[in-house]
Amino acid sequence: MIIYEQTQLNTYNTFGVAGTAKQLIIIESATDVPELLDRTNPDIANFFVLGCGSNVLFVDNFDGRLLHIKIPGITIIEDSKDDVVLNVGAGVLWNDLVNYCVDQNWYGIENLALIPGTVGAAPVQNIGAYGTELSDVFTSLEAWDLSAGKSENFDKKQSRFEYRSSIFKSHNKHLITSINIRLSKHHSLNTSYGAIETVLAEKGIMNPTLADVRDSVVTIRQSKLPDPNKIGNAGSFFKNPILETRFSEELRKKHPKLPFYPAEDGKVKISAAWLIDQCGWKGKRIGNCGVYEKHALILVNYGGATGRDIYNLSKNIQSSVLDKFCVEILPEVNIIKG
Ligand code: EPU
Repeated sequence: MIIYEQTQLNTYNTFGVAGTAKQLIIIESATDVPELLDRTNPDIANFFVLGCGSNVLFVDNFDGRLLHIKIPGITIIEDSKDDVVLNVGAGVLWNDLVNYCVDQNWYGIENLALIPGTVGAAPVQNIGAYGTELSDVFTSLEAWDLSAGKSENFDKKQSRFEYRSSIFKSHNKHLITSINIRLSKHHSLNTSYGAIETVLAEKGIMNPTLADVRDSVVTIRQSKLPDPNKIGNAGSFFKNPILETRFSEELRKKHPKLPFYPAEDGKVKISAAWLIDQCGWKGKRIGNCGVYEKHALILVNYGGATGRDIYNLSKNIQSSVLDKFCVEILPEVNIIKG
């Protein structure tokens, strides 16, 4: 464990906004956590658990303890002719895990290629893309409950996964140290979602391999999502709203082009990107921040924007969507104030 006082935040968030954290604590192993709890006698309101900062917006300076998780390791804990169960340290980069598994010919997370962030952050918001979610391969995880000061195991049911949410997102008191996932050794690919089939066809690939699907997802993501190393961003800033069927039907009558998808309990998920786009925000720049020109769900820092600038922009977008469509869009990104 390494502890730094008054640390600059700009390299700890992919928006690249400046600011300071009162304390930054690097957690390098699961055994650091009980030591930390002994040493700090914690007030959990003061903690924030951070992977690599790819899904946070620091609005102000952070007046607490930032726990940056760097726990490494990928270990096989079950191996059969059909599948493999891996235990993965929370600090492993998600995309490194995807590439490792594709190289081993293990199926299940190839559609989640190039998602920024760490393995420990993946269950918090149940990361998903191109018809796959973490919950599809997840079996369990180890986490410290920082308020109770004890380590716990959560299986899939206890993790209460939903669209971009889980018990870890709603409670915000767990420090995940490792997760277990089950991957298949049998050829099973999901290419039906989004543009994957189109990209495979463009590349002339009829019978795709695991690596072909991973590469297609990378091509699609690179064509419409900005690289955080070049333009500060945190991926989708808002969640797609999930509406009651009746309201969604009324809305779709008025706006027949509104993209929609079936969601749980007969509800309907609609596209936040489309709503924002229709309000004229796509490509709009306000000072040093704006809405990405190729995807309306992504807010970007062109350089020098403050967390407050981006936050204010997000509030203005929310209000105009509410005014035009009577739909509330909520952030997917964790907004950290104070
Ligand atoms: N659209 C617009 N304007 C735009 C962008 C999109 O009208 O500027 C329309 C598209 O035409 C499409 C619909 O919106 O019909 C949906 O767009 P897209 O397929 O890009 O998906 P999304 O719902 O906007 C979600 C995830 C992404 C994930 C993609 C692909 C959320 C909040 N976002 O975006 O995840 O990569 O699907 O599966 O669920 C992330 O979480 O950071 C992220 C990038």
